[in-house]
Amino acid sequence: MPKSKATLVVRGIGQCLTMGQGTEAAAGTGQEDVGLIEDAAIAAADGRIVYAGPASGLLREVREAADVVRVDARDGVVLPGFVDPHTHLLFGGWRSAEFGQRVAGDSYQEILAAGGGILSTVAATRELGEEELVDLGRHRLGLMLSHGTTTVEAKSGYGLSLEHESRLVRAARRLAATETVDVVTTLLGAHAVPPEFRGHRDQYVGLVIEMVRALADRIDFVDAFCEEGAFSVAECRQVFAVARDIGLGIKLHADQLGTNGGAELAAEFGAVSADHLDYISATGTAALAESGTVAVLLPTVPMYVMNAHQAPAKAIQKAGVPIALATDFNPGTSPVMSMGVVIATACMLLRMSPEAALVAATRNAAAAIGRSGEIGTLQVGMAADLQVYSVDDYRMLPYRFGELKPDLVVKQGALAHSNDSSFG
Ligand code: NIG
Ligand code: FE
Repeated sequence: MPKSKATLVVRGIGQCLTMGQGTEAAAGTGQEDVGLIEDAAIAAADGRIVYAGPASGLLREVREAADVVRVDARDGVVLPGFVDPHTHLLFGGWRSAEFGQRVAGDSYQEILAAGGGILSTVAATRELGEEELVDLGRHRLGLMLSHGTTTVEAKSGYGLSLEHESRLVRAARRLAATETVDVVTTLLGAHAVPPEFRGHRDQYVGLVIEMVRALADRIDFVDAFCEEGAFSVAECRQVFAVARDIGLGIKLHADQLGTNGGAELAAEFGAVSADHLDYISATGTAALAESGTVAVLLPTVPMYVMNAHQAPAKAIQKAGVPIALATDFNPGTSPVMSMGVVIATACMLLRMSPEAALVAATRNAAAAIGRSGEIGTLQVGMAADLQVYSVDDYRMLPYRFGELKPDLVVKQGALAHSNDSSFG
């Protein structure tokens, strides 16, 4: 076999976390394996990995292109770029005043029922034009990249009319086309009933179905907020039936604030992911195991909602459901952009092991957006999306509570961001 001509070579890797072989999500004890190779090297050509293995094997398999970029990882840790599989990337305005209210004891649902919460963000988001949304998104994706995130799922959901949801989806698609970070797009029309439909829920669900049809060729997934105070199982089912007929992937905000059959509904539709799951039941967990749906856990959210009830991660893992982690970046329940913070929180509040948390933020996060086999692991043929940390042990990432940033981020084989000007 002819040797590949590498355009990027990373040497001097103390610990390379490949996240294992194969393309399926990792589950159960399999999620404890970060695919560690010590004293490793990685090479990439045409944006893809052509070698990831012991440093000693590099020269046998790879020769360098004339314009090769050489990186010395200085005995540090290399792992795949983070995949953030659940964000509400595009919104107007923050909600710091509401944060103060919740600290004082007001509940998230009371604030929403009084027209605040999501609905206050809807009002602020409707004020923004497409260019302003794109500018905001560009800035936020740049910050996420600086924290090591190379692929992001972006939900709409703060427009809640055909005009405004279309604008959010268009902005996300433009970012997907122009920015370094890859963006996958999800329609979350069923996020809240907007004020102009108060008392006319059925009509609003009808409008969401219209949105699904109108935007089908511009979105990857359809999502809904299945919760008391948001949408019922029956309402979400109506939306999903149309999405499924069109062939769109399905995601669901499920069992976030109470047990309501959301996980079972996600399983019924063979959803690619069921997200939150802080109050998932044993039957819901069994249903996800059966349907092969990825559980996307968002441990910063109960912290911000201040109900302190976290998803039963250990039971979910034991049942054989692959777990992914995400920021849920949004102005209400998680103004958090750093997957490093999420990983640390998952270790300490969900008692996920550092290994399971890192797999959840890479390999399984890719599965949660239907991108297994392309991103999330460092295997030959996968996208060369990776990050380099100058630490000698990968457990330093959760241990330092998101304070560590990657020295270097590589996207599709090209240097994409450096937090250390002396690097590379
Ligand atoms: O994922 N749960 C519903 N949606 C978001 C929060 C949205 C908001 O509060 O603005 C979530 O937590
Ligand atoms: Fe969310």
